[in-house]
Amino acid sequence: MRAMTPSAEWSCAASDVPPDTTATLRLVRDGRVVDAFLVHARDGYRAYVNRCPHVGTPLDLFPNEFLSDDGREIVCSTHGAIFEPATGRCLGGPCAGDRLTPLTVQRDGDRVVVRVP
Ligand code: FES
Repeated sequence: MRAMTPSAEWSCAASDVPPDTTATLRLVRDGRVVDAFLVHARDGYRAYVNRCPHVGTPLDLFPNEFLSDDGREIVCSTHGAIFEPATGRCLGGPCAGDRLTPLTVQRDGDRVVVRVP
């Protein structure tokens, strides 16, 4: 994927993020950079701020490694919290019941567009 200057909107070709894969992205909101990621979950595309609700670290210790081995869950690499891709809800770990911060995702033809709400 081509690197883009961060703005309030980010997009990519839908085919660039096949099912059970992710992509990192960077947006700007009110002059502040927001690091985030897109996940192509079983029921569609979702995007979340790349910040674990436990202690605020990025979820991916290794860049763009967000998913469990079977691709069914988002895993925080710091302390192992597990999140449901469809909702961002923490299903287990030190922040159980908390949630990732969602971003707005829309399809625009063959592109996936992510915006800060
Ligand atoms: S920082 Fe994510 S589980 Fe602790």
